[in-house]
This record gives sequence, structure tokens and C-alpha cells, in this order.
Amino acid sequence: MWRTFRLSINPVLRHHSGIMKTALITGTAGFIGYFTARALLAEGWRVIGLDAMTNYYDVILKQRRHEMLAQSPHFTPVIGRLETPGLLQQLFAAHEPQLVIHLAAQAGVRHSIDNPASYVQSNLVGTAELLEAVRAHPPAHTLLASTSSVYGANTEMPYLETHKVDTQMSFYAATKKATEAMTHSYAHLYGLPITMFRFFTVYGPWGRPDMAHFKFTKAILNGDPIEVYNHGNQQRDFTYIDDLVAGIVALADAIPDPKAPVPGDSLSPVAPFRVVNIGNGTPVKLMDYIAAIEAACGRKAEKVFRDAQPGDVPATWADTSLLEALTGPPPHHKCPHRAATFRRLVPQLLRGVRDHTPKTQKPRHERGGLESSSAGFSIWLRLAAATANFHRRQLVDTDLFTGHPIAFAISQSRLNGSSFSAGDIDAPP
Ligand SMILES: NC(=O)c1ccc[n+]([C@@H]2O[C@H](COP(=O)([O-])OP(=O)(O)OC[C@H]3O[C@@H](n4cnc5c(N)ncnc54)[C@H](O)[C@@H]3O)[C@@H](O)[C@H]2O)c1
Repeated sequence: MWRTFRLSINPVLRHHSGIMKTALITGTAGFIGYFTARALLAEGWRVIGLDAMTNYYDVILKQRRHEMLAQSPHFTPVIGRLETPGLLQQLFAAHEPQLVIHLAAQAGVRHSIDNPASYVQSNLVGTAELLEAVRAHPPAHTLLASTSSVYGANTEMPYLETHKVDTQMSFYAATKKATEAMTHSYAHLYGLPITMFRFFTVYGPWGRPDMAHFKFTKAILNGDPIEVYNHGNQQRDFTYIDDLVAGIVALADAIPDPKAPVPGDSLSPVAPFRVVNIGNGTPVKLMDYIAAIEAACGRKAEKVFRDAQPGDVPATWADTSLLEALTGPPPHHKCPHRAATFRRLVPQLLRGVRDHTPKTQKPRHERGGLESSSAGFSIWLRLAAATANFHRRQLVDTDLFTGHPIAFAISQSRLNGSSFSAGDIDAPP
């Protein structure tokens, strides 16, 4: 649906009959990378997917995402680190991608306080390697992930791409701001068309287990207390994964051209470079968010109120005017289920879990297109419920490309192990 509203379709990145174009995506075993790769495969792209399968959270989850992508003959997984000297150069030389989407990173606000070195390696050294490969083998368009966390201590809301962003509050955010600056210099020096996304707290099926919704759901279902930071005075702009990926795919066509700015553009005056927020544009208060999960779980959380965590920002709120100027109105304005608030969506998740009967699940081709939000949510919640010991540990998913049900067993020991409960992050990642 999103594509209908695009202002311009860039012919450089469209397919000519019979010729597949190649996209190189980093972080394809990660949450956002998996869904982005899946969307491009569905559009007929060949996808080279690089991921190091880092152990920041459960590697089984990452392997599973890659296994699902590998059901397509057009997906080529590559396991390796961004910062391995020459690896990206080799991949670019071998595959000559027309489109590059750089999503691999060490994410997480709080983890960066105790482990800054991993952010230096993945986010700074890794992105420098990627930029060198882009310089040597220029694609038509390169897009890289930044974060709402770069707005840091800014208090002017909603956040606009043209606001000054000089007050990052975590080392994670600082490395992302640094990658924006590094990338701008390459766009300027070598005339490389580059878009930087700023993502706002992304959620959905197969999401990151270090994020607050998993942690809260698990604790509430287990009857454990939850820690509520800044005494509940926080709000986040949540972005559903399908909406985020629709934005990424649509922006791939919007190649920055300094001679063709749109209203409210963040285009650099000296480079084919722009920054674009991808968010929902509707902040949700932390206490409302917890209430929605409580209602969905059917029980009240025991709340322990705490001071703000170091590195956390009190609020995020995206201005999405530039995204809309470049790609048209977002799909969640068009689809009633996307217009629903987070409060209404969370109960759908739990219903999805409770109603789920794999034997009667329709094949993908009968369901049409990507999974609907509620079906997607059911997978998300099945995962959350599984982490909470709420369900048996047999997750059933549908084969991405054939529609046949496939079983995915996760052992109880893994679910109870440190991997799924690792991290403690409810700030914007
Ligand atoms: N999820 C969010 O809410 C959110 C919000 C803002 C920004 N972002 C950014 O979006 C991107 C994707 O985030 P995500 O939520 O999918 O995170 P994720 O952790 O699920 O995915 C990142 C992937 O990158 C891989 N990776 C990490 N370091 C690597 C390295 N050095 N070499 C190769 N691969 C490496 C990891 O194994 C992982 O699979 C990241 O750049 C993140 O900073 C995410």
C-alpha cells in the first residue's frame, strides 16, 4: 500500500524485466534487518545478508531469523564481522550491490555504559569499513541506521531532523551521532548518495528480548516485580516493525539529490545526504504502556519505582513530516488496525497467543502478503509468553515462502537461561 503514495519511483533501483537487482544488508539476523531483508526478497531483490551473530542476546533467535530468510534461494547469508579488514570490500567486489542498507550495530543504551568498547568496534570501526567499501564500489543509494537517542537532552518536541543534536546522553547515542558525521563526510568527499534513518523504539514479532515489553511481560506473568524508572515519568514514540520496514523500503527510492529538496528537508548543503526520522509520531506514556500490558496479561504488576537510569532520556517523539514528504502518508494512517493505540494493540497480542491453533492456520498465499499486524503480534507475544514460562516451548511458525507450517523448538533450558533475560533496556535503543 505504501508504494502507492510515493511521490517518485526512482528508476535506478527498479527492476528491468528479468534482471534481479542486488541489495547488501548488514544485520540480517537482527530484528530490523530480518524484516527488511524479507521485504526486499518479497519485492524480487537478491539479498546478501551480513551478520556476526553477536551474543548480545540469544543467538538462537538470530540463527532462526537467518534460517527463515534462507528459505529463499535469493538470500545469501554471510557470517562475519563488519570490522574484519577487507571482508566488506570482498563482498562489494563480488556482488556489486545497487542498494546498501546498514543496520548491523551494537544496540542498547544501558549496555553501552558497561561495555563501551563493543560500540567502538561495531558502530565506529564497523561503519568506517562499510564506508570504505561503499567508496570503492558505489551503490546507487546507501542507507544507514541511526537512532532517536541522538536527540539526547533536547527538550523541543516533536523531534525534527533539522534540530541541533549535540547533547547525547549515552555512549551508544554518541557512537550513532558519530556515524552520522562520518557518513556525511563520505557523502561530501566522494559524492555518495546517502540517507541516515533515525528509528524510534521499534517493536513487533521476533523483536529484541532486551527491550522493555519482553521484560515487563515476563515479570508480570511470573508475578515478579517490575522496575519503573524515572518514577514512571517517561514516554516513547513506538514504531511497529511493518511500518518501519515500509518506511525503509520507500526511502530506498528517495535518493538524496541536492538539486531537488522537498519541504522541510534535512538535505546537506554540500552533499547528497539527508537524515530522516522513522517513527509513529504519537508518544505513549510509560504508565499507559504498563497498563496495556497488565490488561493483556490479566494481572497487575508489582511496581518498584526508581530514579531515572543513567543514559535514559525522559521522552521521544518523532516529527514524521519529512518522511511523509518523501514517501507519502504512512500506512498506519490508512489501516484502521495501525491507527489503534498501543493500549488496544497489546490485548490483540495475547488473544493471538491464546487463539493460536497451528493446524488451522491458512497458508501464506491465502492470507495474502506479509502477515497482518495481529498475526505478527501473535508471534511476538508467543515469544514473550514463552520467555515468561507461560507456554510450552514449541513455537510454530509458517514457512515464509511456501506457507507450510514448520516447527521451531526452543528448549526450556534456553528460555530460562541468561540469554533471553539478558539486558535491561527500556530506553530507546
Ligand atoms: N530496535 C530499535 O528500537 C532501534 C531503535 C533505534 C535504532 N536502532 C538501530 O537499528 C539497527 C538494527 O537494530 P535491531 O533492533 O535490529 O538490533 P539487533 O541487535 O536485533 O540487530 C543488530 C544485528 O547486528 C549484528 N551485529 C552487531 N555487531 C556486528 C558486527 N560488528 N558485525 C556484524 N554484525 C554485527 C548483530 O548480531 C545483530 O544481529 C541498529 O543499528 C540499531 O542501533 C534500533
